[in-house]
Amino acid sequence: MIKVENVAKNFGGIRAVDGVSLSIEKGSITGLIGPNGAGKTTLFNIIAGVFPPSSGNIYLDGEDVTNLQPHELFHKGLLRTFQIAHEFSTLTVLENLLVVPGEQPGEQLRHSWFNFSRVKEVEAKNRERALEVVEFLEIAHLKDELAGNLSGGQKKLLELGRTMMVDAKIVFLDEVGAGVNRTLLNTIAKSIQRLNEERGYTFCLIEHDMDFIARLCDPVIVMAEGKLLAQGTIDEVKNNEEVIEAYLGTGRKHERKAPA
Ligand SMILES: Nc1ncnc2c1ncn2[C@@H]1O[C@H](COP(=O)(O)OP(=O)(O)O)[C@@H](O)[C@H]1O
Ligand SMILES: [Mg+2]
Repeated sequence: MIKVENVAKNFGGIRAVDGVSLSIEKGSITGLIGPNGAGKTTLFNIIAGVFPPSSGNIYLDGEDVTNLQPHELFHKGLLRTFQIAHEFSTLTVLENLLVVPGEQPGEQLRHSWFNFSRVKEVEAKNRERALEVVEFLEIAHLKDELAGNLSGGQKKLLELGRTMMVDAKIVFLDEVGAGVNRTLLNTIAKSIQRLNEERGYTFCLIEHDMDFIARLCDPVIVMAEGKLLAQGTIDEVKNNEEVIEAYLGTGRKHERKAPA
């Protein structure tokens, strides 16, 4: 579904992503792991069109989407979640879902100036969808709560919920589990699994919690220092020498290579 071809990104003198090529298979929940500063978030931002790569290409279902803007990718079903922006904290949970740009073609919207009942119809449909989303994510009891009053984990669920207001094909989640308590992390994991199985969402997620990755992700891709280090099942990458080395820091390999 996604093909990343030889992508690099420089920030001044820093080579944040250094010639990465990888594929994300349709229907997979692909994990992206690696030590801090590995370039994971930068790669996500490039794929989601937040900024272009310094070199290389991104393909979505075979189409070159390298220089598309986030909203263009959004309408192609490629979504990257963002923290609920500050200005949305004074909206309720339901309102936060209703402000997600809809899918109605501009045609219909223009017609709606002359067709009040059509507007009402779209509004009612969106509201129905938003109510389904909060049910699905088990936050129906919070639907009228201000987003600013939610816990960290509940906010993450709402971020995930926003992707459900459109027909997403592939969703990128950056550290969805960070600072989330066990119970809510469980709800998040369950929701990701159900969206994958029941609605055919493909996911790519960055996460530090290895239990979370082990539970959900196959394959797992490992990055370090801007480069792709390994790819495989969680057990394969966990036992990969270079991966262990990257996580434990330099030196060990030399130690072992040194003559006894
Ligand atoms: N906007 C930026 N400007 C300058 N350097 C950046 C920027 N974003 C990331 N970096 C640098 O790029 C490297 C990779 O960062 P990042 O992609 O955030 O890694 P990760 O998400 O794996 O922790 C780091 O050295 C980081 O300091
Ligand atoms: Mg990051």
